[in-house]
Amino acid sequence: MAERTLIIIKPDAVQRHLVGQILSRFETKGLKIVAAKFMQISKELAQKHYAAHEGKPFFKGVVEFLSASPVMVLVLEADGVIAMSRKLMGKTFGNEAEPGTIRGDFGACRGFNLVHGSDSPESAEYEIGLYFKSEEIVDYTFADDHWLYGSNE
Ligand code: RTP
Ligand code: MG
Repeated sequence: MAERTLIIIKPDAVQRHLVGQILSRFETKGLKIVAAKFMQISKELAQKHYAAHEGKPFFKGVVEFLSASPVMVLVLEADGVIAMSRKLMGKTFGNEAEPGTIRGDFGACRGFNLVHGSDSPESAEYEIGLYFKSEEIVDYTFADDHWLYGSNE
């Protein structure tokens, strides 16, 4: 099975009507959507999501941010999807992220940063399990799989 990652299009992106544009960055790259859910994250779930950051000074703020308004949660699948997604997202804060990245193109502040992506296979597995049952993740093949992922070796 190809690698998977958990992506969240965060509350600020939903409130700023940017869901479609952000989703399209991942989609047009060729990353396969295998699960999706529009939902409101509870404070308890946000605490679990950011459990690795518990005790840090920004923990309370990020938990409040993630649970402040609805979000779009996705599982994407492709070989190398974790690293590719994080490159598409750009550096953590919009005021530092490069132009051409999601955070660099749509954000200018440090408070809200539009999108989340898992940072390792272990965190992807943990995070996917927080939002999706295994039967909610769909297995399928793109009709243009050859042209998207092909090699000429
Ligand atoms: P994310 O987990 O949300 O995708 O973001 P990330 O990997 O780029 O950043 P991470 O280090 O995992 O931090 C999680 C969230 O905490 C906030 N943060 N604030 N004030 C700070 O120094 C600081 N560092 C991180 C950000 O909102 C980040 O998304
Ligand atoms: Mg992170």
